Amino acid sequence: MTNHDREPTTNRRGLLGLATIGLGATVGGVIAAPVAGSLLAPVTRRETFRPVPLGPVHAFNREDGFAPIAAAYVEDPAQPLVSQGLAYVHYTGGSDHDWLAAGAMFVVFSNRCTHVGCPAQSTSIGFACPCHGSQFDQRGGRTAGPAPRPLDRFQWEIRRDHHLWITQRWSVLLDGDHVRYFPVKPPGEPLTGQVPAADALYPAITYSHGPAPKPR
Ligand code: FES
Repeated sequence: MTNHDREPTTNRRGLLGLATIGLGATVGGVIAAPVAGSLLAPVTRRETFRPVPLGPVHAFNREDGFAPIAAAYVEDPAQPLVSQGLAYVHYTGGSDHDWLAAGAMFVVFSNRCTHVGCPAQSTSIGFACPCHGSQFDQRGGRTAGPAPRPLDRFQWEIRRDHHLWITQRWSVLLDGDHVRYFPVKPPGEPLTGQVPAADALYPAITYSHGPAPKPR
């Protein structure tokens, strides 16, 4: 057999190879495009937290020991079903109205478990989630179970109406005696900077924030 005899076969193989590559690229593109699209998707949802009153201050400053008071709230009266929540107000015994001060009067926790969002309940030693057993201490730090991070906290202030208001929501990490604040993340997601590139994989952010407060 001469080289001339083989040439058409080689060309056919080349054409078949090119066709295969082309088909592969097409299939790959069909599969890869949505994946890339999801990875490159912009932040899915940014909302502004609407400050909401929890009740008069005197309703929250009589706690004895660790017995945070549950306060239901509705962030958007026009959409009560999707904007309701429950905060746990812990009176520290302090008197400072600055929520970041060492002697801050209150710590206000979210009851949303950071695993998949079940309602955590307060106990005498912290908080417990009934769904999969996560436990949190009196600072909201995770002590057991699958929850990946501490309970979220609310920024708060006492307004002229003498009511306690929550004005922002933060995810937190506890760093010794300090609390580090992060833009709030939905349950199950790591915090910004906690896992490299995680923001691209978990793009949803529920609230827009100003700069995160610095630990004091
Ligand atoms: S939702 Fe709380 S432990 Fe799973």
